[in-house]
Amino acid sequence: MLKPIKLVKKHFLSSLDLSTEEYLYILRLAEKLKTKELNINFKDKVLGLIFDKSSTRTRVSFQVAMSRLGGTTVDLNPTTSQIGRGEPIRDTARVLSRYCDVLAIRTFKQTDLEEYAKWSSKPVINALTDLEHPCQALADFMTIKEEFLDFNDVVLTFIGDGNNVANSLILCGALLGVEVRIACPKGYEPNSALIKKAYEIYKNKNLLKITNDPHSAVLGANVLYTDVWSSMGEENQKDEKEKVFNGFSINSDLVSKADKDAIILHCLPAYRSKEITDEIFESQKSRIFDQAENRLHAQQALLSCLLQ
Ligand code: CP
Ligand code: NVA
Repeated sequence: MLKPIKLVKKHFLSSLDLSTEEYLYILRLAEKLKTKELNINFKDKVLGLIFDKSSTRTRVSFQVAMSRLGGTTVDLNPTTSQIGRGEPIRDTARVLSRYCDVLAIRTFKQTDLEEYAKWSSKPVINALTDLEHPCQALADFMTIKEEFLDFNDVVLTFIGDGNNVANSLILCGALLGVEVRIACPKGYEPNSALIKKAYEIYKNKNLLKITNDPHSAVLGANVLYTDVWSSMGEENQKDEKEKVFNGFSINSDLVSKADKDAIILHCLPAYRSKEITDEIFESQKSRIFDQAENRLHAQQALLSCLLQ
């Protein structure tokens, strides 16, 4: 009988905070929660949500996940709390962690998230920062496992901005032994310190490739993945990025070069005709809405382990 396990690390701030074994266990737990073969009860537990940026999927999937565990959520944002008036993170974290059992935080700087974790007496989850989106990667690899059953010989190609989503895919991919290729315009590569960490995890296996050529990156790939060209907080770069990212759209030409059974992923929200064409977004190959659904199951599994 599968049960939530206590994780080695208290917080989930980065895709690096779980071991390979913990990832595989959480994914199994998530699958059982999805098929309703498993029922986990955390009655009366409270998840605090702090969102300094907009969210649909992350917010709602955490709320529903907590409700399915028998618990509840408190949703805070800068305009309706004292956070927006500049109350120090170290005070907010100490207060909220006396009320709540776990906190999920979406903010800009990874260092601010780390500051919350430093002062919180309860587990803190990264619900997206400028640097990483580890909950997204967890659901992404759950979706990949559903399709291919295991991670052996899976090639994941991410085309677009080397942003938070790409950074977490690289780290989680390295821990799960998946070949990850990133194709991005020059100057928009993923975070160099995280690339270095991923290379260390892969050891001497040549399974991480960063390129500026989307055409070579998709050859024989099993998963094609993209995200918006301008992330939240980069709205003023939109026009410039649209020019630079021309040619980095997932379209039928790129898809035809991938494996014939390749699937398409997108973390959403999407801008059709920018990073992905409408035809590919709506195609039979798309697993985009399974991926969005899996946020719920993966986070329910994650929460149940963090609440142990
Ligand atoms: N993919 C994702 O995190 O979506 P939201 O911004 O809607 O939460
Ligand atoms: N890279 C995007 C992801 C949104 C879920 C952003 O940070 O806005």
